[in-house]
Amino acid sequence: MIILGIETSCDETGIGLVQAEHIQKPVKLLANNLASSLSLHAQTGGIIPEVAAREQLKYILPLLAQTLEEVFSQKLSQKPPPIDAIAVTYGPGLIGSLLVGLETAKTLAYVWQKPLVPVNHLFGHLYANWIDIQNKKTTPQFPCLGLVVSGGHTDLVLLKNHKTVKVLGSTRDDAAGEAFDKTGRLLGLSYPAGPQIAKIAQNGQRGKIKLPRPMLDSGDFDFSFSGLKTAVLNLVKKNNWENLNESKNPMHQKILADLAASIEEAVVDVLVKKTLQAVEKYKPRSFVLGGGVAANKYLNQRMQKALSEKLEIFIPPPVLCTDNAAMIAASSFYRYQPVSWQKMTVDPSLYF
Ligand code: KG4
Ligand code: ZN
Repeated sequence: MIILGIETSCDETGIGLVQAEHIQKPVKLLANNLASSLSLHAQTGGIIPEVAAREQLKYILPLLAQTLEEVFSQKLSQKPPPIDAIAVTYGPGLIGSLLVGLETAKTLAYVWQKPLVPVNHLFGHLYANWIDIQNKKTTPQFPCLGLVVSGGHTDLVLLKNHKTVKVLGSTRDDAAGEAFDKTGRLLGLSYPAGPQIAKIAQNGQRGKIKLPRPMLDSGDFDFSFSGLKTAVLNLVKKNNWENLNESKNPMHQKILADLAASIEEAVVDVLVKKTLQAVEKYKPRSFVLGGGVAANKYLNQRMQKALSEKLEIFIPPPVLCTDNAAMIAASSFYRYQPVSWQKMTVDPSLYF
């Protein structure tokens, strides 16, 4: 079956298409288009929900039209496209943004008379690992350990099969991506700071600046990153390092790089250690990583090093780590539960 995916939970507008053959096989990626309002949010230091939703309203139909033309050489105004279902994110996320995607999906399902599948964005991040993009013909095997690391979530879960999931732990305060975004902001970096910290960290020395690793030895699978933010704030205040990023002084550039490398290492140390402990306790057959922070190369390397001899590791390519609609379409195939369009509503605080 061919599934159209729609994703508008946060600041991105995503339209994706996947082709699915069999539950034991990964789905094939046909399209994964994105319209981003990130540059607007960089100016304001974070996402203003209403601005995000208004941009999504502008982008969604042109992006859909472009995707249908690319894949099926067919105009949106012509007959219904040769798709078998429509998948849409219904939560968690910003209410206005979610509504843009959901109302679009409902309208299309009604007009085209296609099944409509609501998708939990968090499962979407995990199921990015069921998309065949590098000709990897295998899918993750159950029981499967999953770690979602995004701007709003840090969740360690155990997938027993496509239907049953057990939450092992999650963050008590800031999410991993939020830790990057908030510490980055203290250093004068624009939103989202994660990719910039990763880039600047390449010139820095890890561990040069001592930072805390909260809850590293807590004995459970919960996380906490707000202490890291406070530690960076205290350092910035004590040393007058405000807006280090804007300084042309080479000494400041070196401190910025060392700080970036130390922040990255502190976050990664905690994520890797807790994942390793969960692998030892639950003995899963595979591990899947998902969410924007999964695009971080240093995290990828450390996870590979810590786990590759113990089980099979799946990490999506960066475009499938950050928010996208192909992962929503993929998730809907393996967890296929269509709902009538009249019954669909958004759920901004949806969890696993
Ligand atoms: O999954 P995502 O696109 O959106 C949410 O669902 O939140 O994740 C966005 C988060 C942001 O916090 C961003 O700073 C972080 O992912 N991020 C990264 C990298 N790329 C994106 N963090 C660290 N290193 C990266 N390369
Ligand atoms: Zn996300």
